[in-house]
Amino acid sequence: GKVAVMMGGSSSEREVSLMSGAGVLAALQSRGVDAHAFDPAERPLSALKDEGFTRVFNILHGPFGEDGTLQGALEAMGIPYTGCGVMASAICMDKWRTKLLWKGAGLPIPAFELLSADSDFAAIEAKLGLPIFVKPATEGSSIGITKVKEAGALKAAYEEASRYDNIVLAEQFIGGGEYTCAVIGDEAYPTIKIEPATEYYDYDAKYFRDDTVYRCPSGLDEATEARARALAVQAFRVLGCRGWARIDFLMDEAGGIYLLEANTNPGMTSHSLVPMAARVQGLSYEDLCVKILESVHV
Ligand code: DAL
Ligand code: MG
Repeated sequence: GKVAVMMGGSSSEREVSLMSGAGVLAALQSRGVDAHAFDPAERPLSALKDEGFTRVFNILHGPFGEDGTLQGALEAMGIPYTGCGVMASAICMDKWRTKLLWKGAGLPIPAFELLSADSDFAAIEAKLGLPIFVKPATEGSSIGITKVKEAGALKAAYEEASRYDNIVLAEQFIGGGEYTCAVIGDEAYPTIKIEPATEYYDYDAKYFRDDTVYRCPSGLDEATEARARALAVQAFRVLGCRGWARIDFLMDEAGGIYLLEANTNPGMTSHSLVPMAARVQGLSYEDLCVKILESVHV
């Protein structure tokens, strides 16, 4: 049947989604799939039915496409789609509630505090210790994030993040490196270590700079790699994910793993991480797209 590669949309990650979608579309077409671009910012969802699409490859990022809204609409229309369902999509779009679930399940996360306009910023700086990451709960691609390095700067970072969401998190910094692990189907792929040339893995480093170093295999020793992969699968299951997702985590100097967030429609651009891990696993970008497409639930 006809496949709609849903891309673009109107979230602040629109441009990223268009890059991801262009890659996915070309890959599926190269494998003989009857795939077409579908941008919900340009056409009503009813066009899916009108134009005879029978499946959706969902590569929208951010609110609407990645947060359960579109998933619910597709369920109601009876059109199968790739990736997580309504509940997991909604939870994973919200980093705060993701943390609460992981914490409740006994999985390791960095210490954090919710910020509001009347927070005692000095007390939170003292409690978490500098540096502190401040982030809006529901954005992707590091949009609205600040790394607070100086005493007294937490409030300004809160104000910046609150432009994007009314839920803002302050998170303890864990200094042993930034990693990610793709889970596809029920399987964790090789972890990737991210070494940004910038202060942290920000929007530019993610999509435009060529000086971010990615290590895959990540260089973790065998036991730690196994522990990280097992934890990624657990993290995926606790959130009710299905199909695929990418679990980001930090390590401390002692080998401790701290879960950060789950991305339910992870980036599929030429700079993106899931395709990198898939390659190390022996799966080309095209193979990966077909595998994800075949994982749709009816
Ligand atoms: N939010 C971006 C697309 C990612 O997680 O890859
Ligand atoms: Mg994200």
